[in-house]
Amino acid sequence: MHSPTKAHTTRPVILVTAGSAGLGAAVSRLFAKNGYRVVVNYAHNSQRATELVKELSATTNPTDADGKNYIAIQADLGAKSDIKRLVEETVSAMGRLDVVMSNGGWTRFTDMSSLDDNVNDEDWDRAYAMNVKSHLWLLHAARPALDESSGSFITTASTAGVSNSGSSLAYSVAKAAQIHMAKGLARMVGPRIRVNTVSPGLLLTEWAERFTDEQKEAHRQKTALQRFVQLEDVAAQVLTLAQSSSTTGVNVVIDSGFII
Ligand SMILES: NC(=O)c1ccc[n+]([C@@H]2O[C@H](COP(=O)([O-])OP(=O)(O)OC[C@H]3O[C@@H](n4cnc5c(N)ncnc54)[C@H](OP(=O)(O)O)[C@@H]3O)[C@@H](O)[C@H]2O)c1
Repeated sequence: MHSPTKAHTTRPVILVTAGSAGLGAAVSRLFAKNGYRVVVNYAHNSQRATELVKELSATTNPTDADGKNYIAIQADLGAKSDIKRLVEETVSAMGRLDVVMSNGGWTRFTDMSSLDDNVNDEDWDRAYAMNVKSHLWLLHAARPALDESSGSFITTASTAGVSNSGSSLAYSVAKAAQIHMAKGLARMVGPRIRVNTVSPGLLLTEWAERFTDEQKEAHRQKTALQRFVQLEDVAAQVLTLAQSSSTTGVNVVIDSGFII
């Protein structure tokens, strides 16, 4: 399945889960610009993923074209078997795997001031499955390929994981668990693999369309920088974490000064 010869002669590969929109798409674009081949994972909207792959191909220097540079793979991060298949198909198509941006997440927006609105069993189970377990399954599946490349595994948490904020208590607690888990994983899979986390503040993606304009503006006004976090700034941090061979077990908050 994984050919070491091919691995040494081709450009590095990033797998970006939930990669066809929002933060995942910004990370895909930045890594493509920086010479990576990119696997874009998506769940439901194949057209959007295909369009991003076309965009990446169109904006890459044609002399870079050494086989498969950009592909999209459908997989539901809520299904362990899909996560395993996603990694198998990635390595089989691209021949190597250097960076995993484990970016999937889930929430049901609740009233954060209401205890009654935050005690739904299904919410807690789904939040834990998507924001914690899916990242564990993905690292487990990707470990052999990342071992071979001395690779990097980066998860997307949230400021909700480091302060009482965000869209629901279940989401906030699950993101906190993800940050905690990443530290344990960094110990487990070192020294060859590095594990880090990014925690963005509010990002103006489809995800955030579920907040009202008033809620978004209140968030912006609470930031020290009086601005929303730019997707490109989070993507740049992901690239830095991927490149820094001395950084592991770290959570980087990118929130325009929301939680200080
Ligand atoms: N937006 C924020 O304010 C914010 C702040 C802090 C942290 N975050 C975190 O940042 C990450 C990305 O959020 P975003 O705002 O960029 O989200 P988004 O714009 O809503 O991105 C959605 C992406 O997730 C994919 N997706 C949805 N369900 C999936 C599933 N079950 N399996 C695989 N892919 C799935 C979508 O593909 P399809 O459309 O094909 O399903 C699409 O590529 C999440 O972990 C989120 O918790 C977001």
